[in-house]
Amino acid sequence: MAVMLEVKNLTTYYKTRMNEKICSVDDVSFSLEDGKSMGIAGESGCGKSTLAMSVMGYYFPPLYYQGGSITIDGKEITSLSPDVIRQTVLGTDIAYIPQAAMNALNPTRKIMRFIEDVLKAHNSTLSKKEMRDLAEERFNILNLPSKVLDQYAVELSGGMKQRTVIAISTILSPKVLIADEPSSALDVSSQKIVIKLLHDLMEKGFVRSMLFITHELPLLFNVTDDIMVMYAAEIVERGSAKEMVFDPLMPYSKGLMNSIIVPEEGTRGHVLQAIPGAPPNLKVRPEGCRFSERCQYLNVCGGTLEDKAAGPGRSYRCRLGEETLRELYKVQEENAKKFPLISHTFVDEEIAGVETVGEER
Ligand SMILES: Nc1ncnc2c1ncn2[C@@H]1O[C@H](COP(=O)(O)OP(=O)(O)OP(=O)(O)O)[C@@H](O)[C@H]1O
Ligand SMILES: [Mg+2]
Repeated sequence: MAVMLEVKNLTTYYKTRMNEKICSVDDVSFSLEDGKSMGIAGESGCGKSTLAMSVMGYYFPPLYYQGGSITIDGKEITSLSPDVIRQTVLGTDIAYIPQAAMNALNPTRKIMRFIEDVLKAHNSTLSKKEMRDLAEERFNILNLPSKVLDQYAVELSGGMKQRTVIAISTILSPKVLIADEPSSALDVSSQKIVIKLLHDLMEKGFVRSMLFITHELPLLFNVTDDIMVMYAAEIVERGSAKEMVFDPLMPYSKGLMNSIIVPEEGTRGHVLQAIPGAPPNLKVRPEGCRFSERCQYLNVCGGTLEDKAAGPGRSYRCRLGEETLRELYKVQEENAKKFPLISHTFVDEEIAGVETVGEER
């Protein structure tokens, strides 16, 4: 299958007012195929949003480009000027829905005005009527009421506001859509509707491939083909959604999965455990394995780093082999069940409603 987005050795950083450099995307490489969606997971501050912004190739202070390439459908974009990127890449090759975008809509403008701005930036010859027709058609196909076009953002519910933001951002049918926590601030039923909209956009061909960022791993499992785990500015593991949820290899991915409930068969008796400690300070570029100071297997590996391939589309960053890791996790899982003082067990009888039978002591 054709590759839609290819990112190679991308490094970007923030420059603070104190002139410190915070490298939040460090030598990141990955590719996304046409027709596929990929989830990005990781703790707060690990660089997910920075990666999303960096992949657009459009940088402004305090974010700076240091090196690497970004190719969208065969077109390399880091060599283009910001003006060219704004005019020919954003919206059409790649569209980005920032974290909390729905709260950033100017409350004094009607929704149709935002759509006109996006359409005009790309094709200034469109008449008002043509733009209106285009917007109505798109809203109809996406099952969004077209009366929203004449409303102000403040008049819309949270869920409708988010769906509207998604419709505005994708009006030019981008090849790649990056959605940064598109459903995090919503209630569960609005979340489902937003996810369905993203799914429809892909299915109807308005978006060809998607990067989906979220804290909520169960969501990724249901909506993305693949998952990448990010830690301290690096991608530490990548695989199919199923592999990543049920058989994570890198100890950080394992820790992340252990700290979240996945409402799927096979996670019965899952022991919830938090990852101790916090991610490292990125002001000083950490040497070797960035997870080592929090990793309970440091004594086994010695903190040395290795990039390992583990089957098609599967890779992880850890010196330990697959079988060694699985063995260690088995022992650890048994111990966690034996010592409920340090962890508590959730039995997922009613997992959708999350029934807990263990208790925190
Ligand atoms: N404007 C900025 N100036 C300096 N450092 C920044 C800036 N924005 C983010 N950072 C730093 O970059 C790192 C990555 O931040 P980023 O927002 O990309 O993380 P994230 O994974 O999206 O987190 P969250 O899950 O909370 O959204 C953090 O260490 C953060 O402190
Ligand atoms: Mg973020």
